[in-house]
Amino acid sequence: MNKKIHMVLFLFIGLMLTACTAGETVSKAVPEKTPVVDEETIKIGFSMDTLKEERWLKDQALFKEAIEDLGAEVEIVAANGDDALQLTQAETLIQQGIDLLVIVPHNAEATAAIVHTAHRAGIQVIAYDRLVKNADIDLYVSFDNERVGEMQATAILDLVPKGNYVYIGGATTDNNVHLIKKGVFNVLQPAIDRGDIKIVYDQWTEDWSPEKAFLNMTEALAANNNQIDAVIAANDATAGGVIQALEAQGLAGEIPVAGQDAELAAAQRIVGGTQTMTVYKPIQTLTKQAAALAVRMAKGETVTTVRSVNNGKIDVPSILLAPIPVTAENMRDTVIADGFHTGTDVYGAANE
Ligand code: GAL
Repeated sequence: MNKKIHMVLFLFIGLMLTACTAGETVSKAVPEKTPVVDEETIKIGFSMDTLKEERWLKDQALFKEAIEDLGAEVEIVAANGDDALQLTQAETLIQQGIDLLVIVPHNAEATAAIVHTAHRAGIQVIAYDRLVKNADIDLYVSFDNERVGEMQATAILDLVPKGNYVYIGGATTDNNVHLIKKGVFNVLQPAIDRGDIKIVYDQWTEDWSPEKAFLNMTEALAANNNQIDAVIAANDATAGGVIQALEAQGLAGEIPVAGQDAELAAAQRIVGGTQTMTVYKPIQTLTKQAAALAVRMAKGETVTTVRSVNNGKIDVPSILLAPIPVTAENMRDTVIADGFHTGTDVYGAANE
């Protein structure tokens, strides 16, 4: 494809757009791009932060499948939590002539540079699951992360209306952690104000590390003489670290713990009684939606959204999917019914 012509057309459209966007409403139209002029296969670049957590392996496989089902190609790279590597990997994808970039930022701020580089090459960028801050990102597709936090807190507050709470947040480089925590405290604050519950420990977890979550929870137990009544952990990986720390004090299964992601180990802990709930996010829906939008935008189609999320620079057109709270009661009707995990994997052959 003749990139030079593309670049000139892009700059021309860019100029036109600036001239006419001033009075735009919230439901923002994604800027027009020159469509792929010939029948060459659309090529999407997918820059991922990590494959460390179980869910990202699903995102990787299901996004590839969804893109190929649409007759397009996808090049997937993962940066193992390394900002410099994510930058160079994205630059390589851009040089390889991708038509659109989909990105899961490791660092919400640092990835703004990647958006600038892509736009200079006439390539639109979709933020996937996590928002890129302070950049002219073209579209944000994720789950409603504030709802995730609200679901976690609602489930735990129902079980523990009074007592000492521990909050184990995620990695502060990830914009989601602030949305999740906001959701948690939307629900807990009234009970805190009434004096019914007390947050006796509240810590972020660098790089979402289960080992760090274990150390934080060990510290929380020691600092409070094990007088803890409930724990909300930002995802299942950190919840796993928390439950190990509880196990070390013989408290696993005694203290309600919330997580997120419906990881297999968490689903097993929930039916086994050491974890109370998780928040299931149907990755198959997210990948299908993101793939369809990426291919449409790469073909130059305009995508409009009802919602938008401000990223510190613009109101980013956004599509936020509904998460689902899961306990032992609805495990079969949700995670198993969707085939996210098999009954045998969660319950073991004997329980099937
Ligand atoms: C978040 C994501 C979660 C969680 C975490 C750790 O951004 O929404 O599902 O797994 O990253 O990678």
